[in-house]
This record gives sequence, structure tokens and C-alpha cells, in this order.
Amino acid sequence: MATITKSKVEILDSIMDYKDQEKLWYLYHTAFRKLNENSPSRQSFTMGEFMKLMGDGEMTKFILRDIDGKIVGLGLATNNLSKVPWISQDFFRKRYPLHFENRIVYYIECLVVSGGLKPFSGLTLLASMIDYFPGGSVGCFDFSERNNGSMPIFVERAGAKKAKRGTLLDRQVYYAFEKDT
Ligand SMILES: CC(C)(COP(=O)(O)OP(=O)(O)OC[C@H]1O[C@@H](n2cnc3c(N)ncnc32)[C@H](O)[C@@H]1OP(=O)(O)O)[C@@H](O)C(=O)NCCC(=O)NCCS
Repeated sequence: MATITKSKVEILDSIMDYKDQEKLWYLYHTAFRKLNENSPSRQSFTMGEFMKLMGDGEMTKFILRDIDGKIVGLGLATNNLSKVPWISQDFFRKRYPLHFENRIVYYIECLVVSGGLKPFSGLTLLASMIDYFPGGSVGCFDFSERNNGSMPIFVERAGAKKAKRGTLLDRQVYYAFEKDT
């Protein structure tokens, strides 16, 4: 089991080292492949989209390392909502007008840790992201209910008293039927 300390979260604008990019993609893809099998809604970026984000200075990277320096977790967040193509900016502009205008609506696009780590590594990573967001900001994310229905509770635990007034903003329904032969 790897050991995690909070100080092991590195916050970067860009990751240009190709080897690090590959390690992060492997970590991300391994975890999200399983989530994609469990949800009709695509849960992850393609490799091309992911690699592009690595060099995007407006997508903040939170890198969790174990005591040996090995990359074991990744968080991605941005306050440029145009970097989140699947959300409606109009919604956030109307709902949080001042925050939107001041660019303090932060969207978490990814939170992942490798399997087999010591407990609380995911919480440690998310807590470092919440710490990074400025006071008075709004933090948002979306998740698959089938995969991560208890995510709001997880966020409450990570944010302690800093992440207040958690709100379910909407719920998308995916439906299917099978026609008789
Ligand atoms: C979600 C994830 C980051 C959590 O990290 P983790 O290191 O497994 O979780 P932690 O050890 O920090 O969790 C601490 C506590 O939170 C709980 N917890 C973990 N994941 C949770 C989740 N998705 N929802 C609610 N509670 C969760 C744990 O059961 C544990 O509770 P306990 O102390 O009562 O036993 C990790 O499981 C992961 O990378 N999953 C794959 C990607 C993913 O689903 N990301 C989130 C959605 S985008």
C-alpha cells in the first residue's frame, strides 16, 4: 500500500512531460473504462481530448504522488466553463450571476486515484482542490448516479466546513425499451 500525505498534492497549469502524460492517461483510462461500462452517458475524455487538456493552462491539474514520488491520483478543474463542453454556460450565468461574472465558478472535470492506496487518498486529493478554489467560489461537478451516487456525501467529507450548501442542480434520465420480435 502506498502512503499519502496532503503535501504530496502538486498543483500545475500544464503537464508537458510525455511520460507523465502517459502515466496519467493510464491511471485515468483504467478507472474510467469501468465507469463507462456502467453508464449510458460517456464518463470520460477520449485520449485525444485528455492529452490536449494536459497542455491547457486553463485546466488546473492536481497531481497526487505517493512517498516515492509515483503519480497515484489526478484532479482536473477549471474556472473557464467553455472548457466543459457538456454543460450549459447559460444555466450557470443565470444561477450564479456574480460568481459567473467574476469567474469563480469552478468545474471539477476529473477526480481519480489508483486502486490499492491507503484510505483517504481520494479525500486528500479532493480536499486539496477545494482548498485551492478561492473563498466564496462555487465548485461544481457531475457524476453518474449508478457509479457514484454518494458523491455529494464524499464532497461534504472532503470539504469539511468549507464546502457548504451542496445542491443537486439537475438529473438527466436515460431510458431504453426493447421491442418484441
Ligand atoms: C472516487 C475516488 C476518487 C475515491 O477515492 P478513494 O481513495 O477510493 O476514497 P477514500 O479512501 O478517500 O474514501 C474515504 C471514504 O469515502 C468513501 N468513499 C469513497 N468513494 C466514495 C464515493 N464515490 N462516494 C461516496 N463515498 C465514497 C469511502 O468508502 C470511505 O468511507 P469510510 O471512511 O466510511 O470507509 C476513487 O474511488 C476513484 O478514483 N474512483 C474512480 C473514478 C471516480 O469514480 N471518480 C469520481 C467520479 S468522477
